[in-house]
Amino acid sequence: MLSGKIEKALNEQIRIEAESSQIYLAMASWAETQGFEGVSSFMFAHSDEERTHMLKLVKFVNERGGHAVISTLDAPPVSFGSFKEMFQTLFDHEVMVSQKINDLIDITLTEKDYATHNFLQWYVSEQIEEEALARNILDKINLIGDDKGGLYLFDNDVKMLTAPNTEL
Ligand SMILES: [Fe+2]
Ligand SMILES: [Fe+2]
Repeated sequence: MLSGKIEKALNEQIRIEAESSQIYLAMASWAETQGFEGVSSFMFAHSDEERTHMLKLVKFVNERGGHAVISTLDAPPVSFGSFKEMFQTLFDHEVMVSQKINDLIDITLTEKDYATHNFLQWYVSEQIEEEALARNILDKINLIGDDKGGLYLFDNDVKMLTAPNTEL
């Protein structure tokens, strides 16, 4: 059984994962209108992935006798400036999410909820991977700078980072 405090904190994380999915969907759509197919399919897949993070939390809360609440979300931006700015936004967002997971883990320790603590370890590993991936992409973009040919190759390259089963 979840304590009220844990249930509230997990519901907040559900909202954050849903919001991540929305932001990446907005990035996917923007990238598609810019003609960058690779970046766009990467973002569509990333958006789906965030939705699975959210669903995993929804199932967990309900299985443990809580009630996963689906809340309204703020609208994400419509455009993202440049690809560099967009991936910087993605990286900053992932760092923020990692911090939220850490805060959540702190709460599980004060509440002595070791089952939720254990469950959240999956998110800890996932955040390490996602931050590393975002950093890796940012490094590549910084190497390219404003070179158009480089951006074209980057677009192809980023497609490889998209899981084949989630490619649109
Ligand atoms: Fe996530
Ligand atoms: Fe993420």
